[in-house]
Amino acid sequence: MNVVLLGPPGAGKGTLAVQLAQSLGLLHLSTGDLLRDEVARGTPLGRQAEGYMKRGELVPDEVVLAMVKERVNGVRGVLLDGFPRTLAQARGLEAFLKVDKVVYLAISKEEVVRRLSSRRVCTRCGAVFNLVTQPPQQADRCDRCQGPLAVRPDDRPEVVARRYEVYERDSAPLVDYYRRQGLLVEVNAAQSPEAVGAQARAALSQ
Ligand code: AP5
Repeated sequence: MNVVLLGPPGAGKGTLAVQLAQSLGLLHLSTGDLLRDEVARGTPLGRQAEGYMKRGELVPDEVVLAMVKERVNGVRGVLLDGFPRTLAQARGLEAFLKVDKVVYLAISKEEVVRRLSSRRVCTRCGAVFNLVTQPPQQADRCDRCQGPLAVRPDDRPEVVARRYEVYERDSAPLVDYYRRQGLLVEVNAAQSPEAVGAQARAALSQ
């Protein structure tokens, strides 16, 4: 089964993806994580993507499509987190992967702004925490690897505002696009991570 996770920045796509990938045995592919890794390694792709990401803009469709196509080649079940994000990406994806279900994480702008203002990420292993809703055991250390926690550079309020605008303009139309195809399942993302996971698993098992 190939599943797409759709929703605004901070809706909890990454948090849900970790749960679902484990319970459904799917490969978790987060285009945001892949791009951040390219940036950290200073690859040509990373250098190309960095400016867009800092500003909260989307990396060009052809760059992201090529990156995803390479990673899904030969994989038996994939969970796409943060991809596709434009109609062009959705159509491009159809040329090389059949999407079986799309989980849409529905949540208000106020709630995602609140979540992103208190998100902390491990600079070593990438684990995600929230000072309010999913606090680490020590304020500045990762529970998993003891690495230092930091604010993601694009979680500054002005960049979050831009990311949300870009989401509404370019990605929100995908909700209707996939609904029309009968692939969309809507999950209330304004619940605890456990409740979001349970609702998503129930919807995917139907
Ligand atoms: P990306 O990393 O994909 O960012 P995003 O879509 O904005 O999503 P986030 O990672 O910010 O949030 P999330 O929904 O995963 O929430 P999380 O689980 O962390 O992309 C970054 C950038 O890369 C883009 O801006 C763009 O430049 C580029 N890019 C990526 N993909 C691209 C593409 N396809 N095309 C072009 N460019 C692309 O949770 C958020 C916080 O809330 C955390 O603190 C978490 O602990 C907490 N939380 C999660 N769930 C819950 C819950 N149920 N209750 C309470 N708190 C919760």
